Amino acid sequence: MGGKKLKSSVLVLGILLGTIWMSSCKHDIPQPVIVNNGGGNGGGGGGGGGGNTGIPCDSDSVYFNLQILPILVSNCGSSGCHDPASHEDGVVLTSYQAVMNSGVIEPGDPNDGDLMEAILETNPDDRMPPPPASPLTSQQIQLIQTWIAQGAQNLNCDGICDTSNVTFAAVIRPIMQNKCQGCHQGTSPGGGVNLSNYAGISGAAFDGSLLGSVEHAAGWSAMPKNAAALPDCDIAKIRIWVNAGAPNN
Ligand code: HEC
Repeated sequence: MGGKKLKSSVLVLGILLGTIWMSSCKHDIPQPVIVNNGGGNGGGGGGGGGGNTGIPCDSDSVYFNLQILPILVSNCGSSGCHDPASHEDGVVLTSYQAVMNSGVIEPGDPNDGDLMEAILETNPDDRMPPPPASPLTSQQIQLIQTWIAQGAQNLNCDGICDTSNVTFAAVIRPIMQNKCQGCHQGTSPGGGVNLSNYAGISGAAFDGSLLGSVEHAAGWSAMPKNAAALPDCDIAKIRIWVNAGAPNN
């Protein structure tokens, strides 16, 4: 698919990385904030200066770093599976480059490729992620299929971060489900932290570990593990909810 598009994505990523480096100091974020949704690691090439991508997010497009990578990292990138150290079957699913280099995607063809095959497999012996992990939800599968159908690109965009109505059910729970829960559920969740229900999530909010880990604060394990930090918008929402007393609303 469009080499031109790819080239401009690389340029955009470079600019994004430059922006992130320049804004290391995190104070309270005014609302609404403009955020960049990039932040994937991988070869940016000398973008400089501040500024945003200037590309508004399009609800019809699927953005890899924002929507696909978190699903892969959370469900497939845990240690012992497809993280860089373990790379089961030579497959690493923790960055755009790694996913594409693994050769498990057929850009443009969501019905082909080892990744889709493994995700759609109905036999639990062959399915990814393997039991006892639950299969991906149909919504997550559909998103990955749309991304592949759109050419499996690494698109970036700027969105407005709407922090006006941050509730547990509508905002916090879905962030945890899509970006954390894969490693933080079941009988032995990562770090003993269960993020699949209100009790566990609020517990992490109250002891400071939730915010500390997503903000990559000193003294906490940086989360999501093995991946780039959450988009600023997600972190802003988590901060608002925690500071409001982590209500079950
Ligand atoms: C790929 C698997 C994985 C993902 C994805 C992941 N975690 Fe973790 N998490 C772990 C593991 C494993 C630990 C145990 C500490 C360690 O190994 O770094 C942990 C530890 C933690 C801790 C305890 C930190 C501390 O210093 O005590 C918190 C809180 C946490 N994770 C929150 C999150 C949140 C929030 C997300 C989503 C934004 C997330 N995790 C995504 C695997 C993961």
